[in-house]
Formats: sequence, structure tokens, C-alpha cells
Amino acid sequence: MSTDTPLVRMRGITKRFPGVLANDHVDLEVQAGQVHALLGENGAGKTTLMNILSGLYRADEGEIYIRERRANLQSPRDAIALGIGMVHQHFMLVEPQTVAENVILGLKTPRFFLNMARIEGRIAEFSRQYGLQVDPRARIWQLSVGEQQRVEILKMLYRGVNILIMDEPTAVLTPQEVEELFVTLRRMASEGKAVIFISHKLGEVMAISDQITVLRGGRVVATVSTGQTTKEELARMMVGREVLFQVEKTPVEPGEIILEVRNLRALSDKGLPALKDVSFTIRQGKILGIAGVAGNGQRELAEVITGLRKTTEGGVFIAGCDLTNCSPRRVIREQVSHVPGDRLGMGLVPNLAVSDNVILKSYRDPPLAKGPFLDRPSIARFAARLIEAFNIATPSQETPVKLLSGGNLQRTILAREISVGPKLMVAVHPTRGLDVGATESVRNLLLKQREEGAAILLISEDLDELLTISDRVAVMYEGRIMGVVDTEGADIEKIGLMMAGTEVQISNFKLQTLNFK
Ligand SMILES: Nc1ncnc2c1ncn2[C@@H]1O[C@H](COP(=O)(O)OP(=O)(O)O)[C@@H](O)[C@H]1O
Ligand SMILES: [Mg+2]
Repeated sequence: MSTDTPLVRMRGITKRFPGVLANDHVDLEVQAGQVHALLGENGAGKTTLMNILSGLYRADEGEIYIRERRANLQSPRDAIALGIGMVHQHFMLVEPQTVAENVILGLKTPRFFLNMARIEGRIAEFSRQYGLQVDPRARIWQLSVGEQQRVEILKMLYRGVNILIMDEPTAVLTPQEVEELFVTLRRMASEGKAVIFISHKLGEVMAISDQITVLRGGRVVATVSTGQTTKEELARMMVGREVLFQVEKTPVEPGEIILEVRNLRALSDKGLPALKDVSFTIRQGKILGIAGVAGNGQRELAEVITGLRKTTEGGVFIAGCDLTNCSPRRVIREQVSHVPGDRLGMGLVPNLAVSDNVILKSYRDPPLAKGPFLDRPSIARFAARLIEAFNIATPSQETPVKLLSGGNLQRTILAREISVGPKLMVAVHPTRGLDVGATESVRNLLLKQREEGAAILLISEDLDELLTISDRVAVMYEGRIMGVVDTEGADIEKIGLMMAGTEVQISNFKLQTLNFK
């Protein structure tokens, strides 16, 4: 096949959902032997387009050609038969079963012919060939998220896929695992397969791809060669305007200790140890970032501090006040703000108006309350001020928040949480799922709070974000703090190793031991 003939050609693909044009006459060509990135902000239509290519959704309009032959994809099975396979953001593995059992799941081999030893042998072969280390006999629940992803890829290789679609594959990985994944994807491309790599992260796309197609609002903005573009240009195409990458971080003199947690222990919802002897402090005007792969105790930590979860041992002290196992209301009274990870669940009341949501924390006090009554005109003025100050794009104050976009939901929460003048802010994934513009504005809002003397605990899965805006980063792994580093001159590789649970030697590495015992 000549290099000009695309392996995949999608033409005029249109897909509508009720009230949404997810894909609007999208053209996409992918060559064999290349990694083709599909770049775009949340909601740009990337997943929808690839769900169509992998046979999960049917397009309303348009055609798909594989090796110049018109493809009629009615199901993922049809797609697999043409060599197209997709690894979704949420894995589709059966936890109690082994790797090998998962790999052959759904294949129509009569049980009688199953020879597990041979299947395991073949899987091990693929593992070696592509650097996808995993034990074929391990059960899925025993594996890390990174290993589970490898199983998904092995499943595709086993099915003979030569067009592999990866949907935001790095979101769940440590930096080292990302490196390993990139090696695997490059190996596949070098063998003539096509890899379609979905992402909204510019750095990654620049690092892994040969070609980049940028989607915005369901349409293709452009397809460019990676070697001939820049992060700035890509950001502009993605967002539709100029984007500044720097956030202004001015030096702030540390003040008093605002938050101190000592030897905290707590259980997860399943009753298993989620926090195992966690201790640290945060001073006024400082941001402590918590790094780690999701599910290593970060959520429980935020909940214990904000009064939403009980500790089984240890203590929480805020501005010198012992608030161990106090109610959320008591914690709020100490001027503690909480930007929860789950915006529409815990952060906001979806059916209430923007104005009602921004006063959720202050409506009991004057000037918004007059005795037992709400002072509606004061509330309207207060809300109007916040909507303007925080740039919340809403048709009106009366609009239910569930109708706002992700960025505006987050600004609504921040408006409310900042308007109380917090001593301590606990921010959990504050920019997750936001577009570049909204991310920039949320980060700047946090930095402004820091300058005004708030102590901030920032929990994030985005290492770049943690290193950009925090003063120090603590790495959590299986409920423990593996180490705390100054962000200035921090060594990403060491942070990555700690994220994966490796004890790191402390030479030229500012690890601060935090033991109050
Ligand atoms: N199954 C669905 N039902 C309704 N709307 C959907 C569905 N899947 C996606 N959408 C909408 O289509 C648009 C594009 O979504 P998606 O393809 O998931 O974007 P991306 O992957 O780029 O973040 C969004 O507005 C999204 O809300
Ligand atoms: Mg998506």
C-alpha cells in the first residue's frame, strides 16, 4: 500500500444527540504506521467519533472506508473483523477472572477447544513483543490500573487489531507508565499498525503523535503534522483563542500553621484502611498539592478534613482548633472551604438556581438573612456580584445550575467557597474535565486565594498542575504519604516512582519527614 492511501478514511461523519451536534461533517484520514492524535477539549466530539469508528454508535451521515473499501459497521464485532479496536476510558474487564480469560472473552471458540496454556503462551508472546508486562494468570482485581490497561491492549492485539483507538489513555497512569505506554504505541506504529490517540493534553500529543487532528465543537479545525506545529498553535485551534500558559505565582511569606493533620487513620466506604498514619501541615499563603493515582486515599483525606468522614485515629487541627471528627457545619464555621471532586453531586444542588447555589453557605447569616427570613433583594445583589466577579456564564441568576457547562459549574462553586473568605481551602480535582480556558481561570483563582493568605490543600491527578501552582507536593500511595517535595526543582521521575509506591532515596531530594509521634 502506498503511504498516500489512508488505512482509515472517515468522510462527512455527522452524529446528533438530542440537542447536541456531537460530530458535524467530520473528515478524518489515518495512515498505517502512524500515531494519529485526536485533540480537543471536553465535549469536542472525540469519543463520539471513535465510538462510530469502533462500531459502537451508528453515524447519522457520512461514510467510513477501510483500505479504500466502504465499511458497514453495525457493531463492535464488525469493527474488530476489519481490524478496528478501541480501548475505552472505562475498562471493560471482568474482575474475578484472569487476564487470559479476559483476553479471550467474547471470542467464539468452543469451550472444548480452549487450551489455556496455549492462550497464555500467546499472550506472553504479545507481552514481550510490545512491552506489555502482565501475568496472564493474574486476576484482574489484583492488577493496578496501568496493568488493566495493558490487558485491554492485549485483548485488541489478540484479536488481530491493526487500528487501535486509545481514548484518553494516560489519565489513569503514572508518568513512568505513560512512558511505557508510549513505547508500546510507537512499537505498534513501527510495525505498520495505526494508532488513534485521543487526548486533550497538548504535551502528550506533541510527544507521541505523527499527525494531529484538532476537533472543536464537533468540527475538524485542522489536521497538522506534529513536526510542523507548536503547543501554542494547537491550543489556539483547540480553544479558538490565544491561551497563556503561565500562571502568575508570586512569592508569599508563609504565615502561621492553618492546617495540621496528625497521624490520621480512616476507613474507606468498603471498611478498608484508606488513610494510614497521614501527617502534614499547611501554612497561611501556601498550597500543598497531593499527587497520586486516584484511589490512594485522596478523597478520604479531603473528607476527613472537611468533616464528612470520621477518623479512627489521629487528629485534625485548623488554626489551632481541634476539629477532629467535628460535623461539616462546625468545620465550615472555622472558614474552611471545600471544592469537592463531584461537582453536581456534592458541590451544587442541580435543580436550584445559580443565585441559590452561591449562597448555600452564607444564607443563614446577615446580610442575606433577616432573622429567620431570606432577604431576597440582598441575595440577588450578592449573586449578581459573584456572577460578574467570577465570570460565570449563565443566562440568568434564576437558571438551574444543572444547565451550566463544566467550567461554569466550577466557577459557581469557587465563587461560593471563596466568598466566605476561607482560612483553608480543600480543593479536589478543581480543573478536572475543564477546558484550557476554564482551567486557567480556576488556577488563577486558587493562586489569588493563596496570595490573600489562605492555606490550600490541592488534590489533583494532574502532575503539571500540581507543580505549577503548589508550593510543595506530597505523594500519596495506598493511604500513606510517600514523601513531600518542594515544587521548585522537583524531580518528576522521583514523584512518579513514589506514585507507583516505590520508596525513593533522598539524595539531592528535599524529602521532609513529617512524623509527629
Ligand atoms: N450518548 C450520548 N448521549 C447524548 N449526548 C452525548 C452522548 N455522548 C456524547 N454526547 C454529547 O456529545 C458531545 C460530544 O461528546 P464526546 O464525544 O464525549 O466529546 P469528547 O470525547 O471530545 O469529550 C458532548 O456535548 C456530549 O455531551
Ligand atoms: Mg471523550
